[in-house]
Amino acid sequence: MAATVRCFGPRAPLRGAMRGFFRRCTFQGDALRLDAQAGLGHCSTRRAYRAALCTELKKPLVIGDMSPRELQPGEVRVGVRCAGVNFADQLVCQGQYQDRSDPPFTPGMEFSGRVLEIGPKVTAVHKGDRVVGVSGGKGAMAEECIVKEEMLWSITGSVSYTQAAALPVSYGTAILALEHRARVQPGETVLVTAAAGATGQAVVELASSIFQAKVIAAAGSDEKCQQALRMGATSAVNYTQCSLKEEVKRLTNGRGVDVVIDAVGGDIFKEALSSLKWEGRIVVVGFAGGNIASVPTNRLLLKNVSALGIFWGLYSKMDPPLYAWSISAVLQHCQAARIQPYVGAVFKLENVNEAFAHVAGRQSMGKVVLEIS
Ligand SMILES: NC(=O)c1ccc[n+]([C@@H]2O[C@H](COP(=O)([O-])OP(=O)(O)OC[C@H]3O[C@@H](n4cnc5c(N)ncnc54)[C@H](OP(=O)(O)O)[C@@H]3O)[C@@H](O)[C@H]2O)c1
Repeated sequence: MAATVRCFGPRAPLRGAMRGFFRRCTFQGDALRLDAQAGLGHCSTRRAYRAALCTELKKPLVIGDMSPRELQPGEVRVGVRCAGVNFADQLVCQGQYQDRSDPPFTPGMEFSGRVLEIGPKVTAVHKGDRVVGVSGGKGAMAEECIVKEEMLWSITGSVSYTQAAALPVSYGTAILALEHRARVQPGETVLVTAAAGATGQAVVELASSIFQAKVIAAAGSDEKCQQALRMGATSAVNYTQCSLKEEVKRLTNGRGVDVVIDAVGGDIFKEALSSLKWEGRIVVVGFAGGNIASVPTNRLLLKNVSALGIFWGLYSKMDPPLYAWSISAVLQHCQAARIQPYVGAVFKLENVNEAFAHVAGRQSMGKVVLEIS
């Protein structure tokens, strides 16, 4: 099974791939045209490719024409088929993400597609390979994306481009949260908030299918609760209708849960923290609700509880082999049909603003994917 997933090249962080990439922006009719910065050089052909562009923070994205640049050593040009839409993508375009980006830039952290061209010194990737890739925070929502070869993984078997684009950020985060941070054991009970969202469903599915845990899903509507149950949760709580803490207490006969994976923050985090049993672990994944909760440290002491965090993307710099493993592992699980990521909505590239609104407006279930070509 391991042989079906290749992780290309030595692990190294992607640095500044888009830094200073844009030199000039001009409107040509309705289209925005951006030229690559001096020093990187243009491709000999003057063909253009389409990309979503954030030209101003907090403003709708535009679709523009980009001039391709020549590849540097170790780089690969991928023809993007699909890009994952993450909650964090719209935070980046609002200027509210922890890693700030100055416009103009193309958003998008992950993609699937086919290799169009390899640069000098690329050894493990070949033209025509089907790949899934991570673009280091931005650049994926375009017909073409350039990344270092070590940020690509081969797609084999029957995994579709749509499914593959749903994997890296959400499932990579989920598997590291469960395995590396919470160290979930078979038979333990895991409470997952925003459980029908992209990351939430990944946690639900991996926790139940791979880690053999019991999963209590917590989500913001009955429909989302039903979806989380379909992904493998054993029970579900609609936290807009009842107290999460009381309901978890009832479902666990007063014992509480071993692990919480929380992507919502605020009061939901606090209720989830209170739902932990002796020596429980809570992993902070995000703050989709908009509020960062403070941890009352007496709670940690009283029940010997651990509060942990995860910032998956940073593992690409701090622990590249672990980062690479997180993507290889979920690709292998997907190829073996042990997991089946649910893609709840697919949008065309030109409808990228609708896709962002769908996620930010709390309407999405499972992963939202942009179909690019
Ligand atoms: N730390 C990391 O490495 C990492 C990696 C991936 C994602 N994240 C974070 O995890 C969170 C979820 O990301 P995602 O891409 O998987 O998104 P998502 O779960 O698909 O969408 C966000 C979900 O958050 C819930 N939510 C609660 N209050 C909300 C509010 N006021 N506005 C909008 N949504 C609200 C909604 O679910 P309900 O209606 O069910 O409440 C919504 O569907 C984000 O904060 C993201 O930044 C962190």
